Amino acid sequence: MKLTTAGESHGKALVAIVEGLPAHLHIDVEKINVALGLRQSGFGRGGRQKIERDQVEILTGVRNEETLGSPVTLCIYNKDFANWESCMSALACDEEKMQAKRLTKVRPGHADLTGVIKFEQTDARNILERASARETAIRVAAGEVYRQYLLSLGVEIGGYVKEVCGVKDGGMYAFNDLARAKTTELGMLDSEAETKAKERIAQLKKEGDTAGGVVEIRVKGLKSGFGSMMTYAEKLDARLAQGLMSIQAVKGVEIGDGFAVGGVSGKCVHDEIAYDNEKGFYRTTNRAGGIEGGMSNGEEIVLRVAMKPIPTLMKGLQTVEYITKEKTVAASERSDVCAIFALEIIAEAVVAQVLADVVAERLGGDTMAQVAERYRLLP
Ligand SMILES: Cc1cc2nc3c(=O)[nH]c(=O)nc-3n(C[C@H](O)[C@H](O)[C@H](O)COP(=O)(O)O)c2cc1C
Repeated sequence: MKLTTAGESHGKALVAIVEGLPAHLHIDVEKINVALGLRQSGFGRGGRQKIERDQVEILTGVRNEETLGSPVTLCIYNKDFANWESCMSALACDEEKMQAKRLTKVRPGHADLTGVIKFEQTDARNILERASARETAIRVAAGEVYRQYLLSLGVEIGGYVKEVCGVKDGGMYAFNDLARAKTTELGMLDSEAETKAKERIAQLKKEGDTAGGVVEIRVKGLKSGFGSMMTYAEKLDARLAQGLMSIQAVKGVEIGDGFAVGGVSGKCVHDEIAYDNEKGFYRTTNRAGGIEGGMSNGEEIVLRVAMKPIPTLMKGLQTVEYITKEKTVAASERSDVCAIFALEIIAEAVVAQVLADVVAERLGGDTMAQVAERYRLLP
């Protein structure tokens, strides 16, 4: 499977081309739109989310709600483009409008400064339009297609928000509890922690400051043996970490007990192996988070992802004007105070993409029936 995304934040549209899907996968467009709506919600979001109401349009590869086996093109039109056309069009733009939208007070924590130097630009807009997390909308749309592929094999993905700027949800939850997180304002399962986290975000907003957090993503139903220890590039843990680290503002990925393994001895880390006539081989604990030797081991996959606080602060950070080199305050456009709920949705989409990729690699298949049969035959 191959995914290519394209599109600028205030351009006409975001586009994804998904290659490698077998024929006869049922595509539920409404479910894609529900995921897009969730990505735009959550306590602490900024004004842009009120302008856009993301809806996907499928341009190619699907007929009568079924994939054809050809590349699937997904498209989300940016409603805000109507306000930006004169300075974001592919055709000749209005010089005055371009000047008005030019950004030279480069923002710390963003791609602005390094991007203008690297690509020899005099307007950081030519950098930020692509660096923006608006790109994640189309990744969520593609992720939902991959999720539908995985679901047809019985592989489910869920998750919740574990921490917001120091306020922790310390609960231990069964996979079936996770769906409830999508019905809360911040994606936390412990309502007391969520109330505290909302107060924290509201306070930070008043102070012109921002928040990040940690989300936990879990995968249920993936059989053992996906990914491989044969080459470094095939390792499932490495591929998941790469996918998750590619999300804007993600600064850490843990698998299973993650960083905590460095602080304890071996008997507190490794999962002992047992056998049961019904279950077959299984682990008595799951500290490894379902991956050993770069392969799924049949236990739940457990991942945690850390997001840094949003880098645009309304009480602007100090910077330097790119052209004059004078000390100034960073530019600030409409911005989120906290986007951790959205990150949880995006992280699930990225995990779906990586897993669909490893499943397709191992099983191949021209049709969904072939993929399902090959999956069924695996131990
Ligand atoms: C869902 C989501 C929403 C975001 N919203 C904003 C925002 O409103 N303002 C902002 O400055 N950064 C926002 N970011 C973070 C920036 O996109 C990101 O920090 C920046 O592109 C630099 O990339 P890096 O943090 O990966 O180095 C958001 C990130 C995500 C995942």
